[in-house]
Amino acid sequence: MDIVLIGSGNVAAVLGRKFVAAGHNILQVLSRNATSASELAYEWNTESANYTSLINKEADVYIIAVADRAIEEVVADISLPGKVVAHTAAAVDMSVLKKVTANYGVFYPLQSLRKDQEEMPETPIYTEAANEEAKKVLDQLAQSIYKNAVFEADYDKRTKLHVAAVFVNNFTNHIFTLAEKYCQQEGIDFSELLPLINNTFFRLHKASPGSLQTGPAARADMETIHKHREMLGKHPQILEWYDLFTERILKSPLS
Ligand SMILES: NC(=O)c1ccc[n+]([C@@H]2O[C@H](COP(=O)([O-])OP(=O)(O)OC[C@H]3O[C@@H](n4cnc5c(N)ncnc54)[C@H](OP(=O)(O)O)[C@@H]3O)[C@@H](O)[C@H]2O)c1
Repeated sequence: MDIVLIGSGNVAAVLGRKFVAAGHNILQVLSRNATSASELAYEWNTESANYTSLINKEADVYIIAVADRAIEEVVADISLPGKVVAHTAAAVDMSVLKKVTANYGVFYPLQSLRKDQEEMPETPIYTEAANEEAKKVLDQLAQSIYKNAVFEADYDKRTKLHVAAVFVNNFTNHIFTLAEKYCQQEGIDFSELLPLINNTFFRLHKASPGSLQTGPAARADMETIHKHREMLGKHPQILEWYDLFTERILKSPLS
């Protein structure tokens, strides 16, 4: 398919690489950020533009990968009758694209994507569209990059998935960041924790997290908890999290 990518951040870069690897043709990278747009265009040997008035109107599909809050503003002056146009946001209703074309939809990758990743990790793609024609094209495009990982989700399901994703990825990563900072300040190598981190994730494939809780709070080992709290006196930010999680787990891992 001939594709125009709108946006030049993480999702545009990662999806663009997958599209090219699957044999699609990126006709244009359109982004307000001229530098990153031309970097991606150079990578894919194509053209870039940084004004919506210069949009290439010859593509089959237009993928809009800009900040959620910018989607409406970016499409305000774009009209692409007959073309398939989709955004990549979980938390934005597809109707934001209604005035651009009748063939609008969503192409949402449920994954944490970063431009600097060498390989795109396994990524379920959730599609939704205003009509059969657009849905078929978006599903075909998704299947061309992830054969068995294409699912359907309307706005309601997508936003619920997004909330859960914020917990399992964004918040977890913030906790890792705090732990890494603690390790640095205490002269411990964070990488010594990687086997534990790997096991924490690996066993989720086999059992429910609620049945897997271990640690001082799950055992109600109050003496150990007091010792930890004393040690964290000089790390007030981490102590705040320690107390919050400890209190919740003491009550019940599922409450
Ligand atoms: N990254 C993920 O893991 C992920 C996963 C699934 C879905 N998504 C969704 O994909 C979309 C893009 O996310 P991303 O992670 O690629 O974001 P990103 O790396 O921050 O890139 C955002 C892009 O939007 C542009 N932009 C921001 N504000 C703009 C505005 N007011 N007008 C025009 N362009 C604007 C940025 O341009 P500048 O460089 O000039 O700021 C940049 O090209 C979002 O809807 C997000 O919810 C992200």
